[in-house]
Amino acid sequence: MQAFVDNYIVKDSVSSQTRGYDVMSVRRDFPVLHQEVHGKPLVYLDNAATSQKPQVVIDAIRKYYERENANIHRGVHLLSETATQAYEAARRRVKEAINAKSNKEIIFVRGTTEAINLVSASYGREFIKEGDEIIISTMEHHSNIVPWQILCEMTGARLRVIPINDQGEIILEEYEKLFSDRTKLVSVAHVSNSLGTINPVKEMIEHAHGQGVPVLLDGAQAVPHKKVDIQKLDCDFYALSGHKVFGPTGVGVLYGKEELLDRMPPYQGGGDMIESVTFEKTTYNELPCKFEAGTPNIAGAIGLGVALDYVQKCGYDDIIRHEESLLNYATEALLSFPEIEIIGTASQKAAVLSFVIDGVHPHDAGTILDRQGIAVRTGHHCTQPVMARFNVPATTRASFALYNTKEEVDKLVEGIQNVIQMFN
Ligand code: ALA
Repeated sequence: MQAFVDNYIVKDSVSSQTRGYDVMSVRRDFPVLHQEVHGKPLVYLDNAATSQKPQVVIDAIRKYYERENANIHRGVHLLSETATQAYEAARRRVKEAINAKSNKEIIFVRGTTEAINLVSASYGREFIKEGDEIIISTMEHHSNIVPWQILCEMTGARLRVIPINDQGEIILEEYEKLFSDRTKLVSVAHVSNSLGTINPVKEMIEHAHGQGVPVLLDGAQAVPHKKVDIQKLDCDFYALSGHKVFGPTGVGVLYGKEELLDRMPPYQGGGDMIESVTFEKTTYNELPCKFEAGTPNIAGAIGLGVALDYVQKCGYDDIIRHEESLLNYATEALLSFPEIEIIGTASQKAAVLSFVIDGVHPHDAGTILDRQGIAVRTGHHCTQPVMARFNVPATTRASFALYNTKEEVDKLVEGIQNVIQMFN
């Protein structure tokens, strides 16, 4: 731990620390925000697609490559030992951040998509057979649909899909009705990327466990916005992406309960995941290495550890308060436009605002906003079944993060006014 703390320290680098939550100070930590696009100050509202990186994360990655780059778990030389320490300290950092019980439960992967694919390939190979059922919901990202469809095609298992109501909330009574003695797994989003809905995952997990069924949570959109306590949630698997939580791309985490991961076969074969190899028989390494074949994204893991530190130092309570006030402010402003329909009006929402403008295709809206310096995402957001449920081809989505301001919401509103005027 010491190497990580010494080399990748965050405590002096969060500008907001001494004065309580001060968004202008937080913004100073993110160099990318201070630029113009198309001659206008950048208003970055595409945080659900990827978040921006604070200087401490950029510095940590740079420092690793400048001073410490070496392969891990393999060398007796100093650089290798230092890199190994930093990588394993990052694992401990993730474990602490999500309050897992053991480092063995933290598997570094490429991102949420790989985490879910790991579970579907490995847990699926061991535990899912013909006739079994997997429960997902209508609001899942494609990465929490397609891996299960592939598994169903391979095994003859079946997907059961929880419907959602007009607000974009899971219908709990329908969820409960989907269980049978064939149900082998529930896999649902903690927070929806296209609707912003925060799902009642604690109740859902309790219900599933009452039926003896494990639960995977797709936490990609939850970790940037709320404190996740794995032991309180008691989920069996949790997937997250580094780049959504102010860390680097190409790194993420699969949390799994140790007793489950222990019973699962390896996902990929290669270096580091073995104990011994002969042509007659290969035995596998212990957790977590059993699931980390090949040289991992060492710099990415270190950057993710620093990013989680950064968020924690900003303070989840302040982040939640700040983002809630942005979401309420933006929602109220958009509701004043008769031409706008908000898609996703759940009572529990993270800072994601999807909408359609009458008579304007979202791609046109996105392009016009871009010319005004405003970055939003338009399209189906990798959730085509959500678009089908609300009978829209696409939406425009503004997604907020800890560094966004009310002034930026005002610019979004002004930008939307311009879009509407241009189409009238
Ligand atoms: N899943 C990411 C999004 O929601 C890419 O935009």
